Amino acid sequence: MSTFKYTEEKEQEFQRIAKKYPKIDAMMLPALWLVQEQEGWVSPEAMIFVADRLKKQPIEVYEFATFYTMFNLKPIGTYHIELCKTLSCMIMGAPELKKFIKETIGIEPGQTSADGKFHLSEVECQGACGGAPMIALNHVYHENLTVDKLKSILGECK
Ligand code: FES
Repeated sequence: MSTFKYTEEKEQEFQRIAKKYPKIDAMMLPALWLVQEQEGWVSPEAMIFVADRLKKQPIEVYEFATFYTMFNLKPIGTYHIELCKTLSCMIMGAPELKKFIKETIGIEPGQTSADGKFHLSEVECQGACGGAPMIALNHVYHENLTVDKLKSILGECK
């Protein structure tokens, strides 16, 4: 029995999504995604909860959660910066963006700022190569970035 549970809103979302699946145990990814939307990360307690809901073993949920890099397995900052490190973004200026983040926020990939505000991840191609270099900030894409544009975007994060 887990101490985690969905909020009322997430529970309704779970029920809505579940109707689209012929079998509840096929709903692993959306079930985990709802957890992460709610908590910002997927805790072991939440994995037990998802296993219970999907009639799976906790180890099966753990295998999914650890396979997909989009799931955070520990708490991260309020603003999750996902900086693309693949070829187009690399060529078009991702290293400069990473340098700027390190110099101004003081974090490198995999780190959270001391105030808990920002977390930086380096990720593979996010399918927005035509807008390289790019980041996703809490899943919202920002493309054709320059250091000045990134500075402005991060400056708006309260
Ligand atoms: Fe960065 Fe594709 S290379 S989005």
